[in-house]
Amino acid sequence: MKQKFLKSVVATAVLGAAMFAAGGAFAGIANTKHNLGAEGTGTNMTAATGEICVFCHTPHGADTGEGVAVPLWNKSLSDPLVYTTYDDLGTSTYDAAQATVGSVTLACLTCHDGTQAIDNIINAPGSGMYDSTGGGTGGRTEADGWTWNSGGPVDATGTLLSGVITNLGTDLTNDHPVSMQYGGGGISASNSAGPMRDSDFKMPKQVTGINRWYVDNDFMEANGTGSTTDVLDVWDFKLYTRNTSGLTSENGVAFAGEDEPFVECGSCHDPHLETTTFLRISTAAQGGNMSNAGSQICLACHTK
Ligand code: HEC
Ligand code: HEC
Ligand code: HEC
Ligand code: HEC
Repeated sequence: MKQKFLKSVVATAVLGAAMFAAGGAFAGIANTKHNLGAEGTGTNMTAATGEICVFCHTPHGADTGEGVAVPLWNKSLSDPLVYTTYDDLGTSTYDAAQATVGSVTLACLTCHDGTQAIDNIINAPGSGMYDSTGGGTGGRTEADGWTWNSGGPVDATGTLLSGVITNLGTDLTNDHPVSMQYGGGGISASNSAGPMRDSDFKMPKQVTGINRWYVDNDFMEANGTGSTTDVLDVWDFKLYTRNTSGLTSENGVAFAGEDEPFVECGSCHDPHLETTTFLRISTAAQGGNMSNAGSQICLACHTK
């Protein structure tokens, strides 16, 4: 009990600190399509609240359902969590072991799979507004002011319309693969130096002392925007640590049962960044010096 209380105090402090940093470093999320509230700049606004973070995070009462690692998540995870993944296509060149869709990818899909309203919010603004279901698939009710602009990408309940590109659906075979090993596997806790089983990938770096990996963003570093020291910064392509225990795949798992780097939605996107489509690379107009000209985001990982 005591430990639980301490944990939530620490979590709140962390969230508060980040709020400060986010406001200072870049104009940030307020100017993006992820500002869904009344003060938002996009077409997807509700008059119900002027808050921004609440659509995704809560300081208390967050969703930890199914034991999935999502950050202080204020939404009910899509139910059932069944996705068709890229490996089901059976391309002859794909050599990563596929895990069940998880990690931060599940957090993105709570809105982007189009199965529930973007105003599915567990701890809504104000006192005593907790509802562990977040209001179910339809989210919070119109009676409580959770109405959505017509002409935007969502229907009256606040669910992404089918047919808009941002609604990825639950069939992910037509999307860049996620929740799979980086480099076809081979990098693991006991084997951080590799080699990877697929040599067509840039070697990831490891954060000193912990089982966390990333692919350095050389393009941003070369232009003086990213950190040139070996630290994980916001422009680096984050790899997400997942444990491969119990993972079965036609491709086998080289270091079964160990922590390994995986690619998830957050490897390429940071949902708080004011960059084109939240990519971890920005154009000059956005304070960076790079565009995605020459497909730099793809060449960051793929040696092609
Ligand atoms: C549209 C959804 C969304 C909104 C809105 C949002 N976040 Fe996040 N946030 C995420 C996701 C997803 C992650 C996990 C990212 C990852 O694991 O790389 C995250 C991670 C974080 C983290 C931990 C990782 C990091 O980047 O430092 C902090 C702190 C955070 N958010 C703070 C905020 C604050 C403060 C706000 C409001 C100003 C906010 N977020 C708004 C989706 C959102
Ligand atoms: C609270 C719901 C919600 C969550 C959670 C969420 N998004 Fe979004 N996202 C939206 C909405 C709404 C839009 C605008 C859709 C549109 O205009 O078609 C959007 C737009 C986007 C866009 C397109 C932006 C543009 O400029 O065209 C990207 C990319 C994106 N989201 C990525 C992510 C990723 C990656 C995550 C997880 C890290 C995530 N989103 C989590 C609601 C969400
Ligand atoms: C390997 C990198 C990578 C991964 C992983 C990835 N994306 Fe993207 N995503 C991109 C790039 C690059 C674009 C920009 C495409 C363009 O400009 O047409 C994009 C665009 C988008 C868009 C906007 C589509 C449009 O054309 O308006 C959405 C929404 C989106 N991604 C969501 C997600 C979600 C959710 C996930 C995880 C399920 C994800 N992405 C995983 C690279 C990635
Ligand atoms: C964060 C690193 C990363 C980035 C950035 C990235 N990819 Fe990938 N991509 C991967 C990994 C890992 C795989 C799994 C490939 C495998 O194991 O065979 C993959 C798979 C693919 C595949 C399927 C290969 C197959 O054998 O079926 C294609 C095609 C692809 N990526 C294209 C792109 C394009 C285009 C971009 C830029 C929009 C991009 N990737 C950005 C890491 C990345």
